[in-house]
Amino acid sequence: MQLAIFTKDGELVGGISLHGTDWNTGITQVGYGVGPKSRGQGIAPEAVRAVTRWAFSLGLHRVELRTTLENEASQRVAAKAGFTYEGTLRQAQRGHDGMHDLLVFSFLADEVVA
Ligand SMILES: CC(C)(COP(=O)(O)OP(=O)(O)OC[C@H]1O[C@@H](n2cnc3c(N)ncnc32)[C@H](O)[C@@H]1OP(=O)(O)O)[C@@H](O)C(=O)NCCC(=O)NCCS
Repeated sequence: MQLAIFTKDGELVGGISLHGTDWNTGITQVGYGVGPKSRGQGIAPEAVRAVTRWAFSLGLHRVELRTTLENEASQRVAAKAGFTYEGTLRQAQRGHDGMHDLLVFSFLADEVVA
C-alpha cells in the first residue's frame, strides 16, 4: 500500500508505504521518502507516526522500520517517530556499492500513548 504525502497547501512532498504486511501475524513494514526540497522539516516522522497509528487501527500490532547503517537521516526519522532500535541485520541489503547492514526498529500497538 503506497500513499502520497501532501502539505496542508496541497503540495506533493513525498511518499510512504506499508509493505510485506502479514495479516496472520499482524506485522507490517513502513518505507518512506521526502523530496530533496522538503527535507529537514519533520515531514517523514509525522507521516510515519500517522501511518503507524492507522496500521494499528486496522488490527496490525507491529510496524517494522529498516534502514541502512549509512542512512542517518532515516535513523533520525525512526527515533523521532518513537520507534525502538532492535538490532542490526548484517550485510542484509545489496546496494550499487556493495552489501549494507540494515538497522531494525519497531513500534508496537501497545506502546501507543493516547
Ligand atoms: C530520510 C528522509 C525520508 C527524511 O525525511 P525528512 O522529512 O527530511 O525527515 P526530518 O525532517 O525528520 O529529518 C531527518 C534528518 O534528516 C537530516 N536533515 C535535516 N535537514 C536536511 C536536509 N535539508 N536535507 C537532507 N537531510 C536533512 C537531519 O539529520 C534530520 O535529523 P534531525 O532533525 O535530528 O536534525 C529523507 O531524507 C529522504 O527521503 N531520504 C531519501 C530516501 C530515504 O532514505 N528513505 C528512507 C529509506 S529507509
